[in-house]
Amino acid sequence: MSATLPSHESEAIAVAAERRWTWIVGAIIAVLILMMVVTGVHWASMPPSRVETIDVKTLHLRGEFIESNLGTAVESDGRVVVRLIAQQYSFEPQCIAVPADTPVTFRATATDAIHGFIIGRTNANTMVVPGFVATFTTSFSRTGEQLMPCHEYCGTGHEAMWGRVQVLPRDEFMAKARPGERLSCVAR
Ligand code: CUA
Repeated sequence: MSATLPSHESEAIAVAAERRWTWIVGAIIAVLILMMVVTGVHWASMPPSRVETIDVKTLHLRGEFIESNLGTAVESDGRVVVRLIAQQYSFEPQCIAVPADTPVTFRATATDAIHGFIIGRTNANTMVVPGFVATFTTSFSRTGEQLMPCHEYCGTGHEAMWGRVQVLPRDEFMAKARPGERLSCVAR
């Protein structure tokens, strides 16, 4: 049918189609930029913290990442700090307990490959790289359980590498926390 159209008419159709695509592509670019601004400002995306290194060969023998020191601690100055290790293919501890509406500092490192984690629908999201300590501070406004998947491909067991985060009401958490003890929601 188009072959029978006079050339000026087919040109007008082509121009109209070009213009339509210009608007569609323009709208897609605008949505992408808006997404970047919203995630950056509204979700308070944070730049990487300062570079802090750790010796992978000795981290399980001494220092803050020994097994008995992993989990959630209420420090002597009242800060809530979660220490965890990522390794093929699990997190230690597997289940993390944190208080709601309280700044919680995460400190994580990896023993073997590059891992990462994101906590449910929160802005807690970091890579965990061997030799480095990943740290960030966030707070959880909603109580309940959140899933914490590994989000960096780390090998054949990657898709089975999950942790859980239980956000407890602040009072309930503080009642469970003992000075010098490490809290988690895994039965040991
Ligand atoms: Cu650990 Cu993917």
